Amino acid sequence: MRGAKLARVFPTQRPRRLRRTAAIRTLVRETTLSPSDLILPLFFNEVLDAPRPISTMPGVSQLPVSAAAETARIAQAAGLGGVILFGLPRTKDAIGSSSYDPEGPVPRAVRAMKDAAPDLVVITDVCVDEYTDHGHCGVLKANLRGELEVDNDATLSILAKSALVHAKAGADIVAPSDMMDGRVAALRKALDGEGFSETPILSYAVKYASSFYGPFREAADCAPKFGDRSGYQMDPGNAREALLEARLDEDEGADMLMVKPALPYLDIVARVRAVTTLPIGAYNVSGEYAMIKAAAAANMIDERRAVLELLTSIRRAGADFILTYHALDAARWMRG
Ligand code: PBG
Repeated sequence: MRGAKLARVFPTQRPRRLRRTAAIRTLVRETTLSPSDLILPLFFNEVLDAPRPISTMPGVSQLPVSAAAETARIAQAAGLGGVILFGLPRTKDAIGSSSYDPEGPVPRAVRAMKDAAPDLVVITDVCVDEYTDHGHCGVLKANLRGELEVDNDATLSILAKSALVHAKAGADIVAPSDMMDGRVAALRKALDGEGFSETPILSYAVKYASSFYGPFREAADCAPKFGDRSGYQMDPGNAREALLEARLDEDEGADMLMVKPALPYLDIVARVRAVTTLPIGAYNVSGEYAMIKAAAAANMIDERRAVLELLTSIRRAGADFILTYHALDAARWMRG
């Protein structure tokens, strides 16, 4: 017994043996990363004729719908796992009715992308914040004190209409990001009712009220005009609640779950991984991207190494796939 124990320590044990050559390191690597693990977020702005750079997200632009086909071909050629589409509509109103316009920027872009690259997985973000004039993720009602709040149940039918319009346009997967209770069941029912029982739902099940969405709100023009989103997105201090959210969405029929943001919440990715057999995605959000870009621009880090390392860390925590603005760069770097 004693001998067996000794054999497990230095100098018998030398973990460096398996680090000596690149080939051995590759052989024993536990976590791998491939372009097909990555999903590229895209912003289609109905009023644009040419790409418009987003100042807070260097390298990312809002795109005209006319760029959808070419963008789909690029994403497919890079071997990406997919793309996820956000829309910036021409008009906004109190209930976000342009979110279910079949001629809105997302349905039009979906049709063009599926025509140009039929094998590319096209996911649509389902939420109304880009479509409401107040910027919240649902319709508003006054509470007893006369303050405006997001009305959970009244929002569900709007989300369902929007998901249906996306599915009819040819979206492969719909992804509700609003954090209303019961939205997965509402979407499942609406999709099934119209013959889309085969369309999967990727639920942003565990979405925190995060400062790291800052740059996205410029990108998608969806900053709330008053208050914040802490009445519906999760409190950063909570981990058990993440397991509740994951279970509820799974029970309502979600096919895949997402944790968002990614890097400040890797513990949550690992904890959700431990309790579900569903595929898990993690969203490496705009603020995470902006930090890397700023540090790289200031020559403080090596962008390529940092990006591949952080994407690997998200996979190691338990994510099957990653939504990331680095997707095209990372795919190129992986090819060498
Ligand atoms: C809501 C939505 C947001 C993001 C994705 N979907 C913003 C928010 O909740 O405020 C953020 C993504 C990012 O920061 O990259 N439709």
